[in-house]
Amino acid sequence: MADHDNDHRQRRRLAVLYGSQSGTAQDVAEQLWGDARRRRFDCHLSALDDYAVAGLVYEPLVVFVCSTTGDGDPPDNMKTFWRFIFRKALPANSLAHTWFAVLGLGDSSYAKFNFVAKKLHKRLLQLGGRPIASPGLADDQHELGADAVVDPWVSALWRDVLREFPLLDGEEAIPDDARLPPRYRVDFVEPSGEAQADGDARAGGDTPADGVADAADAVLGPSPLRPFPARVIANERVTSAGHFQDVRLIRLDVAGSGLRFRAGDVAMVQPPSPGEAVAAVCHLLRLDPERHFYVTANHPGLPAPPSPSPCSVRRLLERRLCVTAVPRRSAFRALARLAAPGGAERERLAELSAAAGLDDLYAYCHRPRRTVLEVLQDFPETAARLSLDDLLDLVPPIQPRAFSIANSPQAHPDEVHILVAVVTYRTRMFAPRRGLCSTWLASLDPGKGQETPRVPLWVKRGALPPPSPAAPLIAVAPGTGVAPFRALLQERFAGGHAGNVLFFGCRNRSGDFYFREEWEEAESRGDLQLITAFSRDQEEKVFVQHRMREEGALVWHLLHDKGGCLYIAGNSKSMPSGALDALEWIAATYGGLGDVEAQAFVSELEKTRRLQWETWS
Ligand code: 2AM
Repeated sequence: MADHDNDHRQRRRLAVLYGSQSGTAQDVAEQLWGDARRRRFDCHLSALDDYAVAGLVYEPLVVFVCSTTGDGDPPDNMKTFWRFIFRKALPANSLAHTWFAVLGLGDSSYAKFNFVAKKLHKRLLQLGGRPIASPGLADDQHELGADAVVDPWVSALWRDVLREFPLLDGEEAIPDDARLPPRYRVDFVEPSGEAQADGDARAGGDTPADGVADAADAVLGPSPLRPFPARVIANERVTSAGHFQDVRLIRLDVAGSGLRFRAGDVAMVQPPSPGEAVAAVCHLLRLDPERHFYVTANHPGLPAPPSPSPCSVRRLLERRLCVTAVPRRSAFRALARLAAPGGAERERLAELSAAAGLDDLYAYCHRPRRTVLEVLQDFPETAARLSLDDLLDLVPPIQPRAFSIANSPQAHPDEVHILVAVVTYRTRMFAPRRGLCSTWLASLDPGKGQETPRVPLWVKRGALPPPSPAAPLIAVAPGTGVAPFRALLQERFAGGHAGNVLFFGCRNRSGDFYFREEWEEAESRGDLQLITAFSRDQEEKVFVQHRMREEGALVWHLLHDKGGCLYIAGNSKSMPSGALDALEWIAATYGGLGDVEAQAFVSELEKTRRLQWETWS
């Protein structure tokens, strides 16, 4: 009997593995981890790339939560796993003892909707894995968000899982409204403690972020764990005073950082939370911002805590937790459990987090884009009951923001330039919403010495590799999409590479024509052919794809006869498809191709990597 129990216990092990870009898949995975613990599973939670993948064959049960990014790509923290799992050498039945389920998070406005989840499910089947559920395909486009699919999928999953992996005799599941111990445990250091001086020393003073690399010790190069504090050299508004949008060209000094990048790469910037928001959270939770604490995981099988240890409360809130983010649904569930029993706040929080409350939650929280801080302010009694451990569970981490690097390292050694559109929008809330990172960047005053603001950053490979110098380049860029092309073109101008065409689109010649002088100068030197589309300088809208059609003969000649490349970048969802339609039309009109042949021509360009794009929303 004891042996049987032991076997059974060993079987009740569950791994929740996620691939998450913006944190949503991670949040869903964390909820599943909590659900699993309520059902008494021995549960492991990690990002796919932090998981020792050779162990997969020994797992009795694995739930994968994966989002799809961009053009059907896996998130950064599952890229290594992605390459591994598609290795041809993996035996066909290697997962014969493993049950699995895949939950995908995607956006049906993109062509390759939930591509990663679908492909992973198929691959796991091929490897002999046993599906315990059909893949869940959540859609951001659903009017109630991804939860509309996630919720019912998760409920069905647990029904099926418990059928196959029942609770041990005499064991009971922990009810949904009962509290579990938080994931991480916080131990405050006494005010006079030694550790206060020690542990947070590198984070104190003028250093902008925990673990930020000093210029001197950046031998390994800056990384997400050790961003480089880049000094702001210049912060210049590049749209006219009357233009609706504030767009900045920010030049950063990366001398001595060890940072290596090429044209087409992306700068990742880690913004801090605003000081007022930090102060407000401390006030609500009655936390002393200057107190220091140690943090450890409360359970085995959890990722590292979201903060260094020891750390001050201020630093945690400023650098790690995003109190200005829209809270996840799991936060409402957690708050409902923590609220005073029998009180009005608990009742309201329970309503908002109930399965039937999705509409209500959407109207209260997501549509007005209410922040964690504003929700805590709406539920002050509950906020006052929260401990720092609870906050670590509730608040999503600050996500780094990606900006295409707008300069070539040869043209501006030791500098990184980024083009930042300051994000502001109105919702039904009184206070206008502002993008955390762009608002912060725009506020930075270049200066000298210790007072100079620093921007914690590292670099990521971009989706636009430098095209072969021998091939002509057609770059298509509405708006800030032009940033990576400035880098690529600077390099091509310096190298004397001929055949550079830029289709640039913006609203007005006098409003948001980024780098106008530089382009015109290159044109007068004979280095560039510039073709502009000013959408609002005349009655009817003119976009880059309209100009492509007008210049169809040139586009066809460069792509078909000269082996040229076509690169597209920008922040409009429908822009790439507009440009691709124009391309097919050009192939049909100037190449005399039929529909099918024109499509084949475009796919061939893609396959040979002569057609590339980078888009963002
Ligand atoms: P609009 O603002 O007048 O609509 C940079 O944002 C430029 O891209 C603007 O001129 C904008 O025009 C234009 N734009 C908007 N939607 C687009 C699309 N689907 N394809 C190409 N350009 C677009």
